[in-house]
Amino acid sequence: MDSSVIRVKDLYKIYTIGTNKVRALNGVDFSIRKGEFCCIVGTSGSGKSTLLNMLAGLEKPTKGEIVIAGEHIEKKNESQLVQFRQEHVGFIFQSYNLMPNMDAIENVAMPLIFQGVGKKERKERAAEMLKLVGLSKFMDHRPGQMSGGQQQRVGIARALVVNPEIVFADEPTGNLDSRTTMEVLELIQKISHEKNQTMVMVTHDNHLASFGDRIIRISDGKIIKITDNTLRKKEGGTTVKKAVPAKKTEKPKKDKEQKKTIWDEVESAGQDNTESKES
Ligand SMILES: Nc1ncnc2c1ncn2[C@@H]1O[C@H](COP(=O)(O)OP(=O)(O)O)[C@@H](O)[C@H]1O
Ligand SMILES: [Mg+2]
Repeated sequence: MDSSVIRVKDLYKIYTIGTNKVRALNGVDFSIRKGEFCCIVGTSGSGKSTLLNMLAGLEKPTKGEIVIAGEHIEKKNESQLVQFRQEHVGFIFQSYNLMPNMDAIENVAMPLIFQGVGKKERKERAAEMLKLVGLSKFMDHRPGQMSGGQQQRVGIARALVVNPEIVFADEPTGNLDSRTTMEVLELIQKISHEKNQTMVMVTHDNHLASFGDRIIRISDGKIIKITDNTLRKKEGGTTVKKAVPAKKTEKPKKDKEQKKTIWDEVESAGQDNTESKES
């Protein structure tokens, strides 16, 4: 049986501006297994957000197939897509997108309103999520009364409160300092593994991407490399916990015994232009 929760086949997105055509996605194929923390990495303009928006059904592909949880996204109309997102998908945004006039618990509870969950249960579930992200003491704080990292924790709680099968995150740590970035990344990774949720995170940062179970490297709308990192992790490779105290400049010593780390691999993939795929 195919254990893929996301399957993308021959995907194209071509934007036409006047007579100019931009191939934002230029023939993309991959799949993501259930429970995986998948990182899509590439430089600015490489097509990451376009890809994520296609996966989430926020934009229509020019051509190709996207199958999520057994359903063809590209064949759905707008109202079917809205329903699909409410039932299956959570979002974490770079700029948090919290409602400024609502406190943390109201922000987190909001997606449950669209699911028709009653007020009492909404409060309970939102409170539980805020506890999970370490914000029990900030339930009645508004976004303006919280730090960036705290606001993004609220954003994570809001994305996860409906218990979605898949969570999409577009540069979720893009507005955070490096320490808070690692905390938020650790949280995202921990929760997705504990809840066996599939997480797809877009980042331009090779180091952050190296924490993924699967790393999809994209350049000029094409996938140039897919790395399956799960085996390496089982062997004691990169985990967020280990990486927190590590300094970015500190490269592992390379003696004969030492294996190439995933970091080396991701970094070197960023430099070469080979069309190789390993999966
Ligand atoms: N709505 C749009 N109209 C025209 N071109 C777009 C649009 N959205 C993205 N693009 C172009 O598609 C390419 C990929 O963009 P994007 O997916 O946003 O890249 P990334 O998220 O990796 O920075 C870029 O060249 C960008 O200018
Ligand atoms: Mg982007």
